[in-house]
Amino acid sequence: MAENRGLDGVGDREGSDAAQGTRLIEMRGIAKRYGSGPAAVMALAGVDLDVGHAEMVALLGPSGSGKSTLMHILGLLDRPSDGRYRLGGVDVTRLRGGRASRLRGSRVAFVFQAIHLLPGLTALANVELPLAYARMPRAARRERARRALEQVGLGHLAARYPNQLSGGQAQRVAIARAIAPGPQLLLADEPTGALDRRSGETVLGLFQDLHRRLGLTIITVTHDPVVAQHAERAIRLEDGRIVADEAVVGRLRAPSPLGADDPGAAPTESAREEKAPA
Ligand SMILES: Nc1ncnc2c1ncn2[C@@H]1O[C@H](COP(=O)(O)OP(=O)(O)OP(=O)(O)O)[C@@H](O)[C@H]1O
Ligand SMILES: [Mg+2]
Repeated sequence: MAENRGLDGVGDREGSDAAQGTRLIEMRGIAKRYGSGPAAVMALAGVDLDVGHAEMVALLGPSGSGKSTLMHILGLLDRPSDGRYRLGGVDVTRLRGGRASRLRGSRVAFVFQAIHLLPGLTALANVELPLAYARMPRAARRERARRALEQVGLGHLAARYPNQLSGGQAQRVAIARAIAPGPQLLLADEPTGALDRRSGETVLGLFQDLHRRLGLTIITVTHDPVVAQHAERAIRLEDGRIVADEAVVGRLRAPSPLGADDPGAAPTESAREEKAPA
């Protein structure tokens, strides 16, 4: 597993968890303590969580309930103080350093509320970055990055710089960058928090598309019950514990920014965006 460099994660998945139908995420008794002594904070106090392949989950809960902490552990950015975590059938509980970052790079993608695109790079070059870090050859990564931009409906804006994009478009470029390496798990922390309602809907529609078309497992932290209504399953954290875990009834569909079923098809909305001044 430490040797996995498969950018599309295919090599990694072969004959393993997906084929055998095991869960993508399996957490048992996950605890996270910050600090020690009387000042210690139990950010997570025993979380048991199973998430399958191609699930779309919303993670809700009041401020300080442990949502971001859980996302960091899920995404191998941090390790639990206690408990066991298996990702794709691999015990990653104690994984650290290069092994953790390689597995993270090939399997996990992050989308945050704050959109971090490098201002000096075009949209295409921003999407290429993680592929360059993974030492993918130039021609292959250009092709992969183009495809990822098309998968978010922004193939036509590849040459734009971040300051020539709307907030919603910039977030979609960030999503293209996240999916370019071919992850299995997309973790999003308030991805629509900085966007107006319409741009937020576009991002939700895009998540539903990526979930459906690519079979991505998506976990989105949100404070917004309407955002959660777009998922299939809603999990609520309180004081570092899961207090509710339910199927979403009356799931909402957001309009797809891709329009037609072909991910490369020219979408109506993007066609409109193209006419916007650069
Ligand atoms: N690095 C840290 N050091 C100490 N305490 C921390 C640290 N990170 C988080 N905490 C504490 O752990 C608890 C959970 O924090 P977390 O950031 O996971 O909450 P959250 O649910 O994401 O909240 P919000 O909705 O405000 O983002 C809080 O009490 C927080 O103060
Ligand atoms: Mg948080």
